[in-house]
Amino acid sequence: MDKVLKIGIIGCGAIGKDHCRRIMDTVPGATVVAVSDYVPAAADETAAKYGIRSFGSDCDGMIKDPEVEAVVITSIDPTHHDYVMKTLAEKKWCFCEKPLSLNGKDCEEIINKELEIGKRLVQVGFMRRYDRGYAEMKRIIDSGEIGAPLVIKACHRNVSQGPGFKTENGVTNVAIHELDICRWLLGDEYEDVQCVKVRQSANSTKGYDNPQVMLMRTKKGCFIDVEVQVADGYGYDIQCEVVCENGTVKLPDPYAVVRRSRPAGWDSLNPAESMPIMTDWKERFIEAYDIELCAWVQSVLAGKLTGPSAWDGYVACVAGDAMNASRGTSQFRKVETMEKPELYK
Ligand SMILES: NC(=O)c1ccc[n+]([C@@H]2O[C@H](COP(=O)([O-])OP(=O)(O)OC[C@H]3O[C@@H](n4cnc5c(N)ncnc54)[C@H](O)[C@@H]3O)[C@@H](O)[C@H]2O)c1
Repeated sequence: MDKVLKIGIIGCGAIGKDHCRRIMDTVPGATVVAVSDYVPAAADETAAKYGIRSFGSDCDGMIKDPEVEAVVITSIDPTHHDYVMKTLAEKKWCFCEKPLSLNGKDCEEIINKELEIGKRLVQVGFMRRYDRGYAEMKRIIDSGEIGAPLVIKACHRNVSQGPGFKTENGVTNVAIHELDICRWLLGDEYEDVQCVKVRQSANSTKGYDNPQVMLMRTKKGCFIDVEVQVADGYGYDIQCEVVCENGTVKLPDPYAVVRRSRPAGWDSLNPAESMPIMTDWKERFIEAYDIELCAWVQSVLAGKLTGPSAWDGYVACVAGDAMNASRGTSQFRKVETMEKPELYK
């Protein structure tokens, strides 16, 4: 019989439940055998739905349990570093949702532990690399058909944020996706970065900056401009355009169908062309998450990880640290990483 990877999930919130459903219903070669959450009832509820074990709030016990071969970390951002380190201490496979940690220093510890083990065991949930749109953009850029990339213009807009959200989380939790995808698209590294506060939206009344504009310059001299809104008042809107020497590539909108009609309930004689804009990140990248977890399971079963590594998680966090440190200074901050270890080359 084919091998089936036995997974334990830490964190049964929005994405934890979604990944659990995905692994149970969609991903071949894997099954969830156990779940845990700081709130025991959250774990119990998910466990009951699938008839699997709940470790309640004993996340550490679940990591150590001999039946659990791989750990998926979908708890809140500040917990990631600790759970990754505990999973590595057991020398188990680990899929950690973004961000890998809250800062570059904590990621360094993870890297050092992987180096000590001598094997990549950690993958970071940078699922955009598995999105068809981004993947096709990268293929075209890498082909060289439209020349070298010069500039990226992007935006990341969310509808709203939950309690406790802070300005710096616009980088560590939100723009961390762009910090990964831009260097991946360009095959380049960051030289320096700067976060700029611009005119604030009336939707921003909860004590955090909104919008923020994030600027990155790369070692090859590319310029990246990402507008980040965490309360945009209308939808979950992700856009990205890469300007190259002889053309551009642009991320497609997820809906392919454009409607041309007279909108319902509209008295005007004027018809309109329209396309829905999503509000839920789970739907916007649903296919990318599916492909990401299928690829992760296949690579684990093959014994060699191929997806975004602890190094990728580290670089994004180091760039995020510099981004946050630059806020209010009107200056670019250098992105200084350690030498890239052989393991990640
Ligand atoms: N890749 C992506 O696009 C993507 C999308 C959404 C969320 N995420 C990441 O996934 C993580 C979870 O996000 P979410 O939207 O599901 O949040 P959520 O708030 O819905 O769920 C988080 C869960 O973690 C639990 N938790 C809190 N502290 C814990 C602890 N110390 N130990 C164990 N569990 C704990 C909470 O009880 C909750 O059930 C975050 O790190 C987020 O950045 C990634």
